[in-house]
Amino acid sequence: MADSITITDNRTGESVEIPITNGGVAAADWSKFLPGVWFYDPGFMSTAACESAITYLDGEAGILRYRGYPIEQLAERSSYLEVAYLLLHGDLPTADQFEAWRHEITMHTFIHENVRKRFLEGFHYDAHPMGMLVSAVAALSTFYLDAKEIFDPASRNKQIIRLIAKMPTLAAAAHRFSVGMPFVYPDNSLDFASNFLSMMWKVAEPRFEADPVLSRALDVLFILHADHEQNCSTTAMRVVGSSHADPYSATAAAAAALYGPRHGGANEAVIKMLTEIGSIDNVPDFIAGVKAGNGRLQGFGHRVYKSYDPRAKIIKHTADQVFEVTGKNPLLDIALKLEEIALSDEYFTSRRLYPNVDFYSGLIYQAMGFPLEMFPVLFAIPRTAGWLAHWQEMLDQDSKIARPRQLYIGTEPRDYVGIDARS
Ligand code: CMC
Repeated sequence: MADSITITDNRTGESVEIPITNGGVAAADWSKFLPGVWFYDPGFMSTAACESAITYLDGEAGILRYRGYPIEQLAERSSYLEVAYLLLHGDLPTADQFEAWRHEITMHTFIHENVRKRFLEGFHYDAHPMGMLVSAVAALSTFYLDAKEIFDPASRNKQIIRLIAKMPTLAAAAHRFSVGMPFVYPDNSLDFASNFLSMMWKVAEPRFEADPVLSRALDVLFILHADHEQNCSTTAMRVVGSSHADPYSATAAAAAALYGPRHGGANEAVIKMLTEIGSIDNVPDFIAGVKAGNGRLQGFGHRVYKSYDPRAKIIKHTADQVFEVTGKNPLLDIALKLEEIALSDEYFTSRRLYPNVDFYSGLIYQAMGFPLEMFPVLFAIPRTAGWLAHWQEMLDQDSKIARPRQLYIGTEPRDYVGIDARS
């Protein structure tokens, strides 16, 4: 059987054979054949917008791999910083490479004093930390003018390091401001996750000692969130990056895409939903309501995963470890009951709706003391590595500027009428 498809234009009787490569067919080959006929695909449901060597995802089988490594192995044995290196460089670092990488990231954790004083402190007292983060990341482009040199390898590398290193600092600063606490400077003697926890929670103690179980749990969550191929925010990164905007502006656009409840805001929605349900006894009624079309079961379903999200499995295990330190999140029992009922209900099974990464991550963050508003911020910190890996790959592929077509459904041409003559 030939690995190709044949299309016939019934208007002319002409046929063209197009090879299937890596599971796709090149639209450019079709469009030459069908000038002026566009492929209508809102939400890119059937469109591959790029070739990528970063993350492999098989939604049918529930498989996720970064650069070929199964997510389960990385979550168990690696660290977020090592995974960030892997995503960006293509291979795991040697011991020397990792030490140099760790050192560079650690030495770039500080933010310019004016980012904090003039910029972050200018926000309204009740500003949402994700809104602050999006704006602060965009503002960084005004501090690093060399960021425009996106084809200079040294400059590109420097911005990548700055962005990965400064995200936790900006994230914690946004939180501290939103609760009226003073800014905590990075402690460069700490690892990536522990330093973030120190910037979040330090009060008057000379040195903040994070519980190692919680630090490790956060690092695992960072690994699980580091990349997820062409999701909404990564697509935003690639689209904005394709105009050759600097990486801070592109990352701010990606973070803005992550802000929405259908993407990075879903774990916040899960906690709100569980709180609203309030007790195990109310779960059956809630499920009945969802089935009747009253809202969605938050943290369930995925555009790509049509079986259990592999990240959700790992997170469930991490949750057990965290709850041993923090005490069980009282919402856990409601979540478990919801999952049990949904997984045996024909409505959910026939639509292949399973728990996704957000179903349990919010419970962990809440047990660790993070306010709900910080949930998308916690997602943005590690996803920065994935965004940048895709941005770099897109530039190396000399990708064209993203510019889709539309199917025009507006009015026919008409003449302008002066305001006095309009009815
Ligand atoms: N609860 C109840 N019904 C659902 C749900 C849900 N969570 N998700 C999808 N459905 C139903 C939907 O009503 C539709 O039914 P029907 O065919 O009868 O109209 C069918 O399943 C297909 O839904 P869809 O909206 O066409 O699917 P999609 O691929 O466009 O949406 C999704 C994917 C993630 C936006 C959606 O499943 C959803 O809204 N889930 C809840 C929010 C959530 O948990 N988001 C986090 C996603 S994972 C994090 C990330 O990677 O960003």
